[in-house]
Amino acid sequence: MSEPVEPAKRYLIRTFGCQMNEHDSERIAGLFEADGMTAATDVDDADVVVLNTCCIRENADNKLYGTLGHLKSVKDRRPGMEIVVSGCLAQKDQEGIRERAPYVDLVFGTHNVHQATELLHRSRAEGPLTEILAETVADDHELFPSAMPAHREHGHTAWVTIQIGCDNSCAFCIVPAVRGGEISRPFDRLVHEVADLAAAGVTEVTLLGQNVNSYGRDLTLAARQAGDDVRVRPLFADLLRAVGAVEGIRRVRYTSPHPKDLRPETIAAMAETAAVCEHLHLPVQSGSDRVLAAMHRGYTAERYLEKLAAARAEIVDLAVTTDIIVGFPGETDHDFEQTLALAAAAEYDSAYSFIYSPRAGTEAAELVDRYVPADVIAARFDRLKVVLERSALAKHRDRIGRVEEVVVEGPSRKDPSVLTGRTRQNKLVHFASAEPLRVGTFAEVEVTDAAPHFLRGRLLEVTASARHRTRIPVAAG
Ligand code: 5AD
Ligand code: SF4
Repeated sequence: MSEPVEPAKRYLIRTFGCQMNEHDSERIAGLFEADGMTAATDVDDADVVVLNTCCIRENADNKLYGTLGHLKSVKDRRPGMEIVVSGCLAQKDQEGIRERAPYVDLVFGTHNVHQATELLHRSRAEGPLTEILAETVADDHELFPSAMPAHREHGHTAWVTIQIGCDNSCAFCIVPAVRGGEISRPFDRLVHEVADLAAAGVTEVTLLGQNVNSYGRDLTLAARQAGDDVRVRPLFADLLRAVGAVEGIRRVRYTSPHPKDLRPETIAAMAETAAVCEHLHLPVQSGSDRVLAAMHRGYTAERYLEKLAAARAEIVDLAVTTDIIVGFPGETDHDFEQTLALAAAAEYDSAYSFIYSPRAGTEAAELVDRYVPADVIAARFDRLKVVLERSALAKHRDRIGRVEEVVVEGPSRKDPSVLTGRTRQNKLVHFASAEPLRVGTFAEVEVTDAAPHFLRGRLLEVTASARHRTRIPVAAG
């Protein structure tokens, strides 16, 4: 049967939010390409624009509706353009998206990613469509998520989702409502997937999950010792070791562990597995025990610092980063002083700080009478930033004179004659190179200078060339 050949439709995906969303975008791109579509370079030459959304904080909502407003004017000029909204905000607002922006053609949720092309075809045939699965369907995580064709942004790195959803109930957090409960992907499947990625030239993988340390809680694994049929559940530490042992994988990263679940086994696996990078992102959220309890975080500031000290004692040259929320409902000056004290004591290499953002449906959003005034939060936020930058700069200055292994990420954004690489501790290093080095090249660089958010260095030698094939990048916004 022959059908008239239409020019391939061009798609553009703009991603908001976290790595999980970035990875979902890669999968949507992979499905579109398997369906014959090609990547567009910007909105003006795209037939299909997907906004893959985030709802973790309010400004994410605002960004979506701002972007939609702009897309409407493009669509008014080119009525054939299709606008798709996917991701966490779609899961949260559902029909509300098309009520606010009726020119949107398709809305699908976090559990529908594997149906992206099918839904697009349906909305073309039947008209605007909102399709939100309430939870992951039984066999969805078989397809889910990395096993589906993915179109990766950098050929030398790959995200591997090891677990979706979250079983915790942090009082400020909308994630469990939009991503559902925890589901771990099968151990062997993950290891095979990483081996396949390595065979395709990937040298660095980042294991993704909302709470990676509880990986496997819902799985069992046949013990491998000969004659032993005891079934044990795999630990995240086992996965780190197995993935780190895959030939060709030189760097393993992961995000994020929950401090309450950070086990000695994980620390030992990090220390003993050469490929696992010396970087721990351990979100603390607050330094006040009272606030931590109100957030339901399950640890005290002291316990958190003990775990950090244990990790630092075992893992040589460990970089530590964190997330901190300022202005959780009821946070007093005293609570905030404790956050400042913890931030100083933890000596972070870098930190993301966030202004508390009430998310409808979360426990903390109900505490309206305890909301902290915006000007108080802003002043606290600035004070915290000073402490965090001081500590980051001190950490970075400590590295001057050291020789670091970097992986080239491309030309520096500010100065294309300078290359940017990433160290094992996840720090960016800018350095000059007489010849262009391909993205994914391993090199040794001597650190010559430090700033709070990056290092500068001098190229010593290239140690390994990139092994992957070059790919067309997915647009991320
Ligand atoms: N307000 C502010 N920050 C939040 N985060 C999650 N939910 C909120 C919220 N409602 C932050 C936490 C988390 C990071 C991914 O986002 O610090 O670790
Ligand atoms: Fe949200 Fe807490 Fe789960 Fe992290 S652990 S995703 S902050 S509920």
